[in-house]
Amino acid sequence: MTTPPHITVNVADSLAAYRESDATAALPSIKIVHLSDMHFVSSRFWKRLETLYEGVRGHNPNTLPALECEIASLKPDILIATGDQTTFGDKPSLKAAKEFLLQLGGKSGVPEERIYWIPGNHDVLLNYYSPIPGLRRNYDQVYGDLRIADSCVIAGSKLAIFSFDSTLDRKGQRSLLWPIVGSRGRVSPRSFNSFNDGLKPIEADRDYFKIALIHHHPLPIPFKSGSAIGLELTTMFNGGTFIAHMQESGMNLILHGHEHQPYSCRYCYEPEGNDIIVVAAGTACQNGSKQNSFNYLEVVPKVSVTIRQYAYSEAGFRIDRGATKTFRLATT
Ligand SMILES: [Fe+2]
Ligand SMILES: [Fe+2]
Repeated sequence: MTTPPHITVNVADSLAAYRESDATAALPSIKIVHLSDMHFVSSRFWKRLETLYEGVRGHNPNTLPALECEIASLKPDILIATGDQTTFGDKPSLKAAKEFLLQLGGKSGVPEERIYWIPGNHDVLLNYYSPIPGLRRNYDQVYGDLRIADSCVIAGSKLAIFSFDSTLDRKGQRSLLWPIVGSRGRVSPRSFNSFNDGLKPIEADRDYFKIALIHHHPLPIPFKSGSAIGLELTTMFNGGTFIAHMQESGMNLILHGHEHQPYSCRYCYEPEGNDIIVVAAGTACQNGSKQNSFNYLEVVPKVSVTIRQYAYSEAGFRIDRGATKTFRLATT
């Protein structure tokens, strides 16, 4: 008679793993709601163009109270909108989207200074196609200057948030392909210089958890179907440079939108540096989208980043449990 194979369970290891996960859950976390690509269209004039093609659709008004209801119950510390707050970049829509974000912050207990926004390519669309020399872009007039570097303490942790404008400057882009490539992004040398200046005061302090906000995606999104003409038309021109520089600058997390496809990954360009977690949010409320969603992140600095996805149906937003991801962070 043969003896059945023996399976050894190391109880000490299992207990240690349990305690570790339990301890992590008990640590205070920074709670972030990450919305993107709301695509507000609030004026009747621009609404008429919505039927032209799906890329210029506006927001679904039914999603707005649903967002307010769900996000108010999450009580985040920070609210972030990573661009394409509007579809055309007209002032009434830009103002309506900003008012909605401020109202959302008010209902969720997020103070105004903890609400962050950056422009997307659609927010500056009118300025691309009817540029008036010397006139400030509609986006800048409504949302003000970019907060290039900002820091605060939340849940006992030091946090630094860096904002980028990755929309293209049409000057110097006189290509005939402009209507096709106009949705691609780039971080300009001037923006890199401003970022480097903003980083300097905290660069040596390793206690800061650092987050970069950008609209375009620095990495191609996997598993998406390509464009009809077989060209990659939406990834940043210098996404590789951007993400490599972020890692050498000690960034921990990059949040972006643009593709309307939720996605996250860990990136490592420099093996000796900390890995970066890159997170894309879908479109929170664009009409007719395959899926509206937003991300809710719980960050425990030096321990973990957990990303939860909330998806919309006519019954409201609810968590998509299968989409939750936790990235463990190096403890250096
Ligand atoms: Fe968008
Ligand atoms: Fe975009």
